Amino acid sequence: MNNFTFYNPTKLIFGKGQLSQLADQLAPYGNKILLVYGGGSIKRSGLYDQVVGILKENNKEVFELSGVEPNPRLTTVQRGVDICKTEGIDFILAVGGGSVIDCTKAISVGAKYDGDPWDIVTRKAIPTQAVPFGTVLTLAATGSEMNSGSVITNWETQEKYGWGSPLTFPVFSILDPENTYTVPKNQTIYGIVDMMSHVLEHYFHLEENTQFQDYMCESLLKTVMETGPKLVEDLENFEYRSTILYSGTMALNGMLNMGYQGDWATHNIEHAVSAVYDIPHGGGLAILFPNWMKHNLNVKPSRFKQLAVRVFGVDPEGKTDEEAGLEGIEKLREFWNSIGAPSTLADYDIDDSKLELMVDRAMARGEFGRFNLLKAEDVRAIYKASL
Ligand code: NZQ
Ligand code: ZN
Repeated sequence: MNNFTFYNPTKLIFGKGQLSQLADQLAPYGNKILLVYGGGSIKRSGLYDQVVGILKENNKEVFELSGVEPNPRLTTVQRGVDICKTEGIDFILAVGGGSVIDCTKAISVGAKYDGDPWDIVTRKAIPTQAVPFGTVLTLAATGSEMNSGSVITNWETQEKYGWGSPLTFPVFSILDPENTYTVPKNQTIYGIVDMMSHVLEHYFHLEENTQFQDYMCESLLKTVMETGPKLVEDLENFEYRSTILYSGTMALNGMLNMGYQGDWATHNIEHAVSAVYDIPHGGGLAILFPNWMKHNLNVKPSRFKQLAVRVFGVDPEGKTDEEAGLEGIEKLREFWNSIGAPSTLADYDIDDSKLELMVDRAMARGEFGRFNLLKAEDVRAIYKASL
C-alpha cells in the first residue's frame, strides 16, 4: 500500500423521495440554472416535470441543454458552454446517466475557459475554474455522480478520451433508486458490467498489502453478481435497484482504491471502440475485459487465482495458479453471458476492417496499463481475440 490522500467532496443524497432535498442543495448558489439532460427519458418518466417544478417554485431562472448523447459529444459540450457564457449561468444541474453528467463536467470547466473545451479533454489545458454543478442520477453504471472523471467523444475525429480535475466533482448527487426503474433491460445490463469492470480495473495492480481493499473489491463484485441477475428479471424492484445503484457509486468514487492504482487499460481499449463505432460502453467492456484478462494472465497468475477462488468459487485443488485463474475468467464470461451481455465485437457487427484505426486511437496517448504496460501489438491481439 502506498501513501495516499483521499479527497471526495461530493455530498451523496441517497434514497426514496430524496429529490425533496433539491431546493435546499441549490440554495447557496445563484438563480440562473442550466438544466442538462439526455434524449428524453426524463420527460417520459416524469422526472423532468418534477425537477422543473421544484426549480420554478424556488424562483430559479431555468435554461436547458437537452439531447446529450450516450457517449457525449464535444459539439454538445460546446452548446452548453455557449449557453453558460451568454447567460451567465450560476449552477448546472445534470439530470440523467453518466453521459449527461460527463457532458456537464466538461461544460462546467469549458464555461470558464477561453479556448476550445477539447483542449481540456486532451489535457493541453488545465482548468482553473468551474461553474458548480450537481446531479440527479437516473442510471447506475459509471460512478460519475461521485467522481471527478468525464469521458468526451469528438465524433469528427473519432476520438474519445477520459479526463478529470479536482474541480469536477459534483457538489451534490441525488440518487433515488426509483428514478432508475425505467432504465431498460439492456442498459441495466451494461451498467452492471460497467460497475464490475471498474472493480476489476482496480483489482489488477502490482502493489503488496492491499488485503482490506481486496476484500472490499471482492465483496462489491459478489454483491453485484448476486443481485444483478435478479434485477434484470425484475426491473422495478426497489431493493435490487438500491443495491445496484449504491454499488455503482462505490465502485468508482475512490473508496476501493486508496493506496494503490489499478490497471485501467481495458477502459482505454473500450473507449477506442466506442470512438469509432459508438457502441455502449458497458457492452464493449463485456466483450473486451475477459480477453484483456487472458492476455495478461501470466503477469501475476496468483492475482487471477485469488479472484477466481474468492469471487467465482473456483476450487483451486490440484490446479496451477494459471489454470485456476483461467477458470475464473471463464466464469466471468459465463456470468456476463447469463445476464445477456454481448461477448464478441461481431455482436455489434464490428469486423476487422477498422481494427488498425481502433489500435491507433487506443495508443493515442502512448503505451498504457499499470498492471501490464500494453503496446500496440498487445492491443491488436486483444481486439483480434474479441472479434
Ligand atoms: O438520453 P436519455 O433519453 O436520458 O436515455 C439514456 C441513454 O439512452 C438512457 N437512460 C438513462 N437513464 C434512464 C434511461 N432510460 C430510461 N430510464 C432512465 N432512468 O440510457 C442510455 C444510456 O445513458 P448513458 O448516460 O450514456 O449511460 P451510462 O451512465 O452508462 O454512461 C455512459 C458514458 O459514461 C462514460 C462512458 O464512456 C460513456 O460515455 N463513462 C464515464 C465514467 C466516469 N465519468 O467516471 C467512467 C466510465 O467508465 C465510463 O467510461
Ligand atoms: Zn466504465
